Amino acid sequence: MNAIEAGHLFKRFGTVTAVNDVSLTVREGEIFGFLGPNGAGKTTTIRLLTGVLTPDAGTVHINGIDIHRHPLDAKMQMGVIPESSTVYGDLSSEQNLHLSGQMYGMPRALREERINEILSKMGLSEKRHLPVRTFSKGMKQRVSIACAIIHRPKVLFLDEPTSGLDVQSRRLVIETIHQMNEQGSTIFLTTHNIEEANTLCQTVCIINKGKIVAQDSPERLKKMFDTTQSVEVSFDRAVTRDMFAAEGILRAEPCGDKWRLYTDHPDRVLKYIVGRAERESIGITSLTTSGPSLEEAFVQITECA
Ligand SMILES: Nc1ncnc2c1ncn2[C@@H]1O[C@H](COP(=O)(O)OP(=O)(O)O)[C@@H](O)[C@H]1O
Ligand SMILES: [Mg+2]
Repeated sequence: MNAIEAGHLFKRFGTVTAVNDVSLTVREGEIFGFLGPNGAGKTTTIRLLTGVLTPDAGTVHINGIDIHRHPLDAKMQMGVIPESSTVYGDLSSEQNLHLSGQMYGMPRALREERINEILSKMGLSEKRHLPVRTFSKGMKQRVSIACAIIHRPKVLFLDEPTSGLDVQSRRLVIETIHQMNEQGSTIFLTTHNIEEANTLCQTVCIINKGKIVAQDSPERLKKMFDTTQSVEVSFDRAVTRDMFAAEGILRAEPCGDKWRLYTDHPDRVLKYIVGRAERESIGITSLTTSGPSLEEAFVQITECA
């Protein structure tokens, strides 16, 4: 069964069509990244999928449950971490968690057990009795996530979960996403951070101006849009551009203390560089190859749309 199925969703705000015929399928157990520039329609889509907004047209099924017909049943399946935190500032993290657990119908004993576990995992145990309004943005986000996973949802929605967080909170959030996924939850996250989508998600769906423009694994998306790879090299002394006039090197660009060489045949370029440096007694201080980037794919996809 698919964890999320959306069919032909539309949502207009006045003259803006924020979501324009969006259909998508998220398989059970996957980490699905919804990537797009600001204003693309990510938040509106997540609101439609989680039943916060009603679409002008289209359907949403969560684990086979029609969210329009059975909103409560569908909502019991999910945890939602919205773009801006919805935790109660005057309540402590412990109180927020009790409240959230109660809304999901969890009995007190179970809530207490889970709350202790989650507070310690999120590094919030010591501050469990302080009002959340005194917390930093990163700590508030941790409380928000804790509240959304207390009932161990089968499907977890996160809207730009790491945006603007400090390094430590960001790492905790990513770790929690991985852990929830390993325990069987399907993850749907929006992001405008390409590298995050690339490393975290099995499937990436790109939305631009309300329309889905591509959907595939990050690896295949990269291949689809750019086959050019690059080799980065630095030497123990300055060299001139002549060094890179060779067959197979399409373009050479200085890049800090390195040179970046674009090629379709990195193996040939590596052999050439090593051979030439040896003949001229130049030392190589670093040499790396990199594949086509998701960033290039993203720019091509969203610029030609
Ligand atoms: N409640 C709203 N009222 C009016 N316009 C909105 C509302 N929510 C979103 N929009 C518009 O819909 C478009 C998509 O917004 P949004 O879904 O928030 O994009 P994203 O999350 O990808 O940045 C934008 O043009 C935005 O201005
Ligand atoms: Mg948004």
